Amino acid sequence: MDRNLALEFVRITEAASLACARFIGQGDEKAADQAAVDAMRREFDSVDIDGTVVIGEGERDEAPMLYIGEEVGGKRSEHSPKIDIALDPLEGTTICAHGGVGAISVIAVAERGNFLHAPDTYMDKIACGPKGKGHISLEKSPTENIQVISEVLKKPVSDVTVVILDRPRHKDLIAEVRKAGARIRLIGDGDVSAGIAPCWEDSGIDLLMGIGGAPEGVITAAGLKCLGGDFQGRLRFRNDEEKERAKAMGIEDLDKMFSRDEIAQGSVMFCATGVTDGPLLKGVRALSRNRSQTDSIVMRSKTGTVRRVTAEHDHNLKDI
Ligand code: FBP
Repeated sequence: MDRNLALEFVRITEAASLACARFIGQGDEKAADQAAVDAMRREFDSVDIDGTVVIGEGERDEAPMLYIGEEVGGKRSEHSPKIDIALDPLEGTTICAHGGVGAISVIAVAERGNFLHAPDTYMDKIACGPKGKGHISLEKSPTENIQVISEVLKKPVSDVTVVILDRPRHKDLIAEVRKAGARIRLIGDGDVSAGIAPCWEDSGIDLLMGIGGAPEGVITAAGLKCLGGDFQGRLRFRNDEEKERAKAMGIEDLDKMFSRDEIAQGSVMFCATGVTDGPLLKGVRALSRNRSQTDSIVMRSKTGTVRRVTAEHDHNLKDI
């Protein structure tokens, strides 16, 4: 994959973030998401790729744009790179609508056939930074995972912070983490940025545990691959229909525990732009009536390069 593509993709996440930033705190999740989707879809046309959305806004019958299987990109010739795209124009729609912490616009890219085709179901996840790589496992208990992270990070269990989505389904997990003596950061939404956060020691987050969206799991695994962190995921289905969808997407073993590199194979790129302030990125800043600033991250697993991109945008000169 051409390395310059990574910088093309950041334009796309910037556009999506700028578009939905107008809806921060407005209480309208649908409008915020729609603005991000429209902007992202539009911007894809300006990039010379032969792209297929493999993780998107939903199945074709439920999402009019950026649905799974949709072809995107301004394919200019038969030489245009054939890539698979995992995207979330607005990860954290509720966060954006409430003006909360950690909404982002995100795209991960792999060569064709290299992302797990995960249906829109749930996934049991565990994620950590580079020092924990190879040590965490969904087959271990939460207590054992916390213990191992405490050892590799050389800090007491009482200083280990686990981020968990605040959901009733996590009652037992939360109770066990508390019993183990670790700290917990409960979040309302947004487990992509929370899952990648352990790669930055100053994020204050050491581990992500619990069940969240499977599509978000694929995106998180790609981000962690670029940063040397680790991830494991196991699909958690709500009904038989979801199981059938998974089978139709080529998943044979429905109980399989997927490693980071089984979810995101080969060389991947990841880019994200902040919508609201979060552990990973700053949100969109309105600098003046016509100018806004964005904060993005662009990463490639092949080289391990992590670029931070701060951009100023002139609304008069751009169709945002
Ligand atoms: P959306 O941006 O699609 O609203 O997803 C937000 C999110 O919190 C994800 O980060 C997370 O993986 C998923 O929802 C959890 O799902 P649920 O809200 O059903 O528990």
